[in-house]
Amino acid sequence: MKFDVKDVGLAKEGKKLIEWAAKDMPVLRLIREQFKKEKTLKGVKLAACLHVTSETANLMITLKEGGADVYLTASNPLSTNDAVAASLVKDYDIPTFAIKGEDNKTYYNHLYSVLDTHPNQTMDDGADLVGLLHTKYKKQISEVIGSTEETTTGVIRLKAMEEKGDLKIPVVAVNDNLTKHLFDNRYGTGQSTVDALMRSTNKLIAGSTFVVCGYGWCGRGVAMRARGMGAQVIICEVDPVKALEAVMDGYLVMPLEKAITQADFVVSVTGGKHIVDEKHLKKAKNGVILAQAGHFDIEINKPALKNLAKKVRRVRPMVDEYDFGTKKIYLVGEGRLVNLAAADGHPASVMDMSFAGQSMAAKYIWEHAKELEPKVYSLPSSIDADIARLKLESKGIAIDSLTKDQKKYLNSWEEGT
Ligand code: ADE
Repeated sequence: MKFDVKDVGLAKEGKKLIEWAAKDMPVLRLIREQFKKEKTLKGVKLAACLHVTSETANLMITLKEGGADVYLTASNPLSTNDAVAASLVKDYDIPTFAIKGEDNKTYYNHLYSVLDTHPNQTMDDGADLVGLLHTKYKKQISEVIGSTEETTTGVIRLKAMEEKGDLKIPVVAVNDNLTKHLFDNRYGTGQSTVDALMRSTNKLIAGSTFVVCGYGWCGRGVAMRARGMGAQVIICEVDPVKALEAVMDGYLVMPLEKAITQADFVVSVTGGKHIVDEKHLKKAKNGVILAQAGHFDIEINKPALKNLAKKVRRVRPMVDEYDFGTKKIYLVGEGRLVNLAAADGHPASVMDMSFAGQSMAAKYIWEHAKELEPKVYSLPSSIDADIARLKLESKGIAIDSLTKDQKKYLNSWEEGT
């Protein structure tokens, strides 16, 4: 079996992490049992490009037990847990290509390794495999019946490809699931981003001025948790509706150029480019801590940061000091997805729902391939309802249901004042 991990000797530690995460993934466990019994994915050869974490390991095991042949590569050079990668290889026979801290060349060689297996389905977090299938691996695209996409950034790219007529395969946007973005993006990113800042800097959040760029679901989560820790939170937005919502949620809202003069922390979580740009860096307060929780390391203008600095040194694990001479700026996680670079990513309990969605999306593609066109699809809302129901059940929470009469009333227009 071909693989490339840091050290297979770390497998014992990785297996414990995988089993720990499994305890908080009851919905995925039910899917796993069903997939195993029915061999739902028999015949699928699936290349996955995801963050190699203990939660992802449980997804890979689920797909494999469902009969799929799975190959895993990292979706970010800094997000791999090396012990988990080792265990996937040693304990679960899943070919894994991922090393935390790998350089760009190795990162891409790992992507090529999974595509060289000639998959008939792919699974992305950031659309890298789909991107390659439309460029360097164009010849293989006819072998692929469809793909699934985990993240907002990936979905935005895929929709742009679809609009331009460039998308050649069907893709299920798992991020569109309500049971994904309302929970993973908000509660997952919220907790894990603040966790990463605390672990890496050990700075006190209480009493700090904490700027969040972007008030999408991820931004809301980060803002909510920073406020919960006692920070004064400022939101920077370009969308007037989202900005207004932030105002009514009780946050200060202002342009970043002003906010950065006061900020102790700046977290960019927009999916856009150079949100924290040269002009902002020049105005930043001495000692500000910068981080990014969007998918690609492009939200903070790193070349400008390097140019402005006279000296750069690592001052703590995952924290780099950019010394401008007149002031110092700190960048966490090399400006990459901070919650995975400097912490463990989202907790298993929330990834349970995201990866239940991924499993159902893989099944959906396998079972509906013939009807699907080269478009970006959302899963039927009944799948969301099933995932939410199972999650509630796993928490021992029962909910009400409508009577026949109430259903009739809601579906009619005759009854009124
Ligand atoms: N994205 C964010 N957190 C994650 C996790 N724990 N596992 C996989 N992908 C993630």
